[in-house]
Amino acid sequence: MKTRKLRDIAVSEVGMGCMAFSHGYGRIPSETYSIEAIRNAYAHGCTFFDTAEVYSPNLAGIGHNERIVGKALEDVRDKVVIATKLMLHGTHPGDVYPTIRSHLEGSLSRLRTDRVDLYYLHRMSGVPVEKVAESMGRLMEEGLIRGWGLSQVDVDVIDRAQRVVPLSAIQNIYSMVERDSEKKIIPYCMEHNIGFVPFSPIASGLLSGKITPQTQFEQNDDVRNWVPQLSRANLAGNQPIVALVKAFAEKKNATPAQISLAWMLHKYPNVVPIPGSKNKERIVENLDAAKVELTDEEFTELEKSLDGLKVYGHRGLGGF
Ligand SMILES: NC(=O)c1ccc[n+]([C@@H]2O[C@H](COP(=O)([O-])OP(=O)(O)OC[C@H]3O[C@@H](n4cnc5c(N)ncnc54)[C@H](OP(=O)(O)O)[C@@H]3O)[C@@H](O)[C@H]2O)c1
Repeated sequence: MKTRKLRDIAVSEVGMGCMAFSHGYGRIPSETYSIEAIRNAYAHGCTFFDTAEVYSPNLAGIGHNERIVGKALEDVRDKVVIATKLMLHGTHPGDVYPTIRSHLEGSLSRLRTDRVDLYYLHRMSGVPVEKVAESMGRLMEEGLIRGWGLSQVDVDVIDRAQRVVPLSAIQNIYSMVERDSEKKIIPYCMEHNIGFVPFSPIASGLLSGKITPQTQFEQNDDVRNWVPQLSRANLAGNQPIVALVKAFAEKKNATPAQISLAWMLHKYPNVVPIPGSKNKERIVENLDAAKVELTDEEFTELEKSLDGLKVYGHRGLGGF
C-alpha cells in the first residue's frame, strides 16, 4: 500500500483502528481472533495501528486493547507504527511530565516495545496544552516517543501546542457526515505539516450502507446506541447520503465503506483514516479503499452531491 506522512512518520494510506477488539461496538471477539485480524491487516499492507490505554471492556480497567496490539505486532514491531493515547484528567499542572511518563511506561510494557511512535493526549483536561507539549517534547528527546498528537481539539488548542513542540497528528472525528474539521483544522494541519487522522471515518457503520432501521445494536458497551446519525429518525433522514455512496460504489465496483474512505483520501493529502472493525474480512475491505481511485471529476460530482444533502445528527468535537 502507498504511504503518507504524519510529519516525519511514514504510515500506510489507510490505518486500522483496533478499539472494537476491546470496547465500543458490543461483544468483543476472542483474543486469538483479534490477534489474527491485526496480523492479517499487516499482511495486507497496513502499517498503522491505533489503540489507547483506556480501550478495555466497558472502559473499566486499563490496557486490554494495548495488550492485544502488543502481542499481535511484537514480531513486526520495527515495520509498523503504533499510536496510543493517554488521559490526564485530575493531573496537577505541576505533575504533568511525571504523570505522562508513568502512563507511557505502562503503555510501553503492555505494547511490548521500547517506544511509542505516536502518543496522543486522548482528551483535553484541566492541564494547559503547553505543559503537555513540553512534556511530549522531552519524551521525544529521550527517544521514548517519536511524535505526539492531540485528539478532539479545535484549532486554537492545536496552535498553542504547535508553537511549543510541533505536532505529528491530530485525531478528530471526521467523515462524510462529520465535517467540522474541514473549516479550519485540516487546512491548519496542511499548512503546518501535521497529519490528520480521522476517527469514526465510516460514521460508526452508517456509510457502509449495511445499517437499516431493523438493525439492533448490542445492549452492552455499544456506542451505536448513542451515535446521533444512527437514531431511528436520523437514520431515515440520512438515507439520501447512504444512497449516494451506494450509487458511487456500484459505479466504481467498490463498496460504500470504501467510497467513503476514498473520498477523504482524494480530498486531502495529509489525511490517514483509521476505520475500525472487529471482522477480518471487513478490515481487509477497508484497507482496499486505498486501491479505489476517484478521478477529479468523480470526486467533484460526489462532493457537490454531498454538499447538497442535509446530515441528520451531529456529534462534533465536544461529543463523546
Ligand atoms: N480519538 C478518539 O477519541 C476516538 C474515538 C473513537 C474511535 N477512535 C479510533 O478510531 C477507530 C475507528 O473508529 P470507529 O470504530 O468508532 O468508527 P468507524 O470505523 O467509522 O465504524 C466502525 C463500525 O462500522 C462497522 N464497519 C466498519 N467497516 C465496515 C464495512 N466495511 N462494512 C460494514 N460495516 C463496517 C463496524 O462493524 P464491524 O466491527 O461489525 O465490522 C463498526 O460497527 C477506532 O477503532 C479507534 O481506534 C478514536
